Amino acid sequence: MPEIMANTNHGKYPILIRTGALAQLGDVAGKTVRSRKAFVVTDSIVEGLYLEQAKKSLEGSGFEVASYVVESGEASKCEKNLFAIYGAMHDFGMTRSDLVIALGGGVVGDLTGFAAATYMRGCPLIQVPTTLLAQVDSSIGGKTGIDMPFGKNLVGAFYQPKAVVIDPGLLKSLSRTRMAEGMAEVIKYGCIRDAMLFEAIEKGQADMEWMLQRCVKIKTTVVQNDEFDTGERMLLNFGHTWGHAIEKVSGYSRYTHGEAVAIGMIKACEIGEKLGQTPKGVKERILNVLEKWHLPTSTDLPVEDLYQTMLSDKKKLNGKVYFVVIKEIGDSKTQPLSEQELKDLL
Ligand SMILES: NC(=O)c1ccc[n+]([C@@H]2O[C@H](COP(=O)([O-])OP(=O)(O)OC[C@H]3O[C@@H](n4cnc5c(N)ncnc54)[C@H](O)[C@@H]3O)[C@@H](O)[C@H]2O)c1
Ligand SMILES: [Zn+2]
Repeated sequence: MPEIMANTNHGKYPILIRTGALAQLGDVAGKTVRSRKAFVVTDSIVEGLYLEQAKKSLEGSGFEVASYVVESGEASKCEKNLFAIYGAMHDFGMTRSDLVIALGGGVVGDLTGFAAATYMRGCPLIQVPTTLLAQVDSSIGGKTGIDMPFGKNLVGAFYQPKAVVIDPGLLKSLSRTRMAEGMAEVIKYGCIRDAMLFEAIEKGQADMEWMLQRCVKIKTTVVQNDEFDTGERMLLNFGHTWGHAIEKVSGYSRYTHGEAVAIGMIKACEIGEKLGQTPKGVKERILNVLEKWHLPTSTDLPVEDLYQTMLSDKKKLNGKVYFVVIKEIGDSKTQPLSEQELKDLL
């Protein structure tokens, strides 16, 4: 199976999607850097599941390996861990030609990516995403960063990896809730860009490796056209305008990101219908698929709070709130809405 090549302003990199790919990490790393030092960051859950296998593969290709383990969970995406990682890299004698590997979900990917972007002004990085969300979303596109006490993802960098190694076999150990969370993003890709993907999910016939390829292809293409997130990349925000407000209003605890996005996709369909942009029937199809994955499709959070939260984010976007609406399954557009338009629609 051919690799997908991602093209960025900072060169090309391969994305390998294959069951069993973790065992090939050493090979990929060997082709990526000349140095033979690899620093692996992972979290406390993934450590027990896959760190040994990753190390074995790297050592088999002649790498000297050190690892650093953060606690599993969003709270680990913090400056304390970032600085601890810099320290551990220094103790390992890392130079800027040595390799950094992020082995984990989006938390490890974002944190490690930012460490790699900034340690000695940048070391080569390989992403090995282990959650479905990380495999289809966070490991691709080069966004890295940490959370700050005053908000999520507020400090970071665009930093492209040298390679991404995606092993669908690693998803076997994921909980059903985490799988569903990633599926919300997979369904999103189908809705915005890929009717065939959506139909396969609808029929329950989609093979995971095939689905990952479709999603990664969409993300790399969209990112390629808009590396610094000023235009087309906005389409990836389908369901996220309302979804982010839900996460914020509910204090990031009641819903997973994917659940909030699922509710947000349905809200975006309702808005699209009211605007005459989303044809009747589209919302029902999306709703059916989300329900199959036991994802929520509505919330009892107060509309007024969600509205105010969206407005407080709007200053980033010239006074308008942007919703992505579906023109038909597989085709979408961004729709700017003024404060008043949004109020009327809600
Ligand atoms: N950089 C981007 O473009 C981008 C995009 C979307 C999300 N994100 C970020 O990603 C983060 C969320 O990512 P996530 O959902 O992967 O969270 P996560 O990294 O916290 O992983 C979720 C949970 O699954 C566990 N886990 C990981 N792999 C596993 C496996 N194979 N088997 C069993 N358990 C496993 C983790 O230990 C954790 O408890 C957020 O911080 C978000 O801001 C970044
Ligand atoms: Zn998302």
